Amino acid sequence: MPPLSPPPPRLMLNAVSCMRNAQTVLRDINVSVHDGTALVLTGANGSGKTTFLRMLAGFSRPSAGEILWNGHDVTSPGVFQQYKLQLNWMSLKDAVKEKLTVLENVQWFELLEGKHGRSAPAVELMGLGRLINDKARMLSMGQRKRLQIARLLAIDRPIWLLDEPSVALDTEGVKLLEYVIAEHRKKGGIVIVATHLPIQIEDAMSLRLPQRFPRRKTLVDLVR
Ligand SMILES: Nc1ncnc2c1ncn2[C@@H]1O[C@H](COP(=O)(O)OP(=O)(O)OP(=O)(O)O)[C@@H](O)[C@H]1O
Ligand SMILES: [Mg+2]
Repeated sequence: MPPLSPPPPRLMLNAVSCMRNAQTVLRDINVSVHDGTALVLTGANGSGKTTFLRMLAGFSRPSAGEILWNGHDVTSPGVFQQYKLQLNWMSLKDAVKEKLTVLENVQWFELLEGKHGRSAPAVELMGLGRLINDKARMLSMGQRKRLQIARLLAIDRPIWLLDEPSVALDTEGVKLLEYVIAEHRKKGGIVIVATHLPIQIEDAMSLRLPQRFPRRKTLVDLVR
């Protein structure tokens, strides 16, 4: 029997560049992402981490190169409809509806997804059980972040795109985030995360985006 060839990557970026405001922000990126993989994006402020995630989410198109999902270009209309249903997007804009309760804020997304019964356990897991029927306007910053993570769990899509997911979380919150990321990967899920803060992610691939301009001196240099 011929040896089995390894499966093709679920996601592949081939020589991808991306422009914002008429400037090239990402240049010639090549990455292959298989099921169960975590990819951690790091780099200075303005280096293009959010741009990278937005491009994968389809909010902006590559200016050169291609993004392949199962070998198909995600920017072609037929493929994009399927591809976007794989994505779970979490950013610093939290879209928390203050007049809804914590549970309703999660259920609303779950219902749109045609799913049922996952919201309450997700809210509990994220340590918000005591607040489940409180209006979301009562939540602290870290609690709002926990609510967003509960949404990820309730929606349960395969590819997570997380922009600074640990901002505002306390130590326990970061541990919960690490736990849900690990569990998602065990099921074959993919996690692509931009972060400045250390997050423990086992066997993660790491992509450090280069500084785009020669660095100018700041106050930090002066006080050194
Ligand atoms: N809406 C926008 N329109 C035009 N240019 C933008 C826009 N948002 C960001 N940029 C530019 O794109 C570049 C990359 O920004 P991006 O937000 O991707 O960086 P980042 O690595 O996520 O930074 P941070 O660590 O601060 O979150 C920056 O130079 C920024 O000025
Ligand atoms: Mg950013």
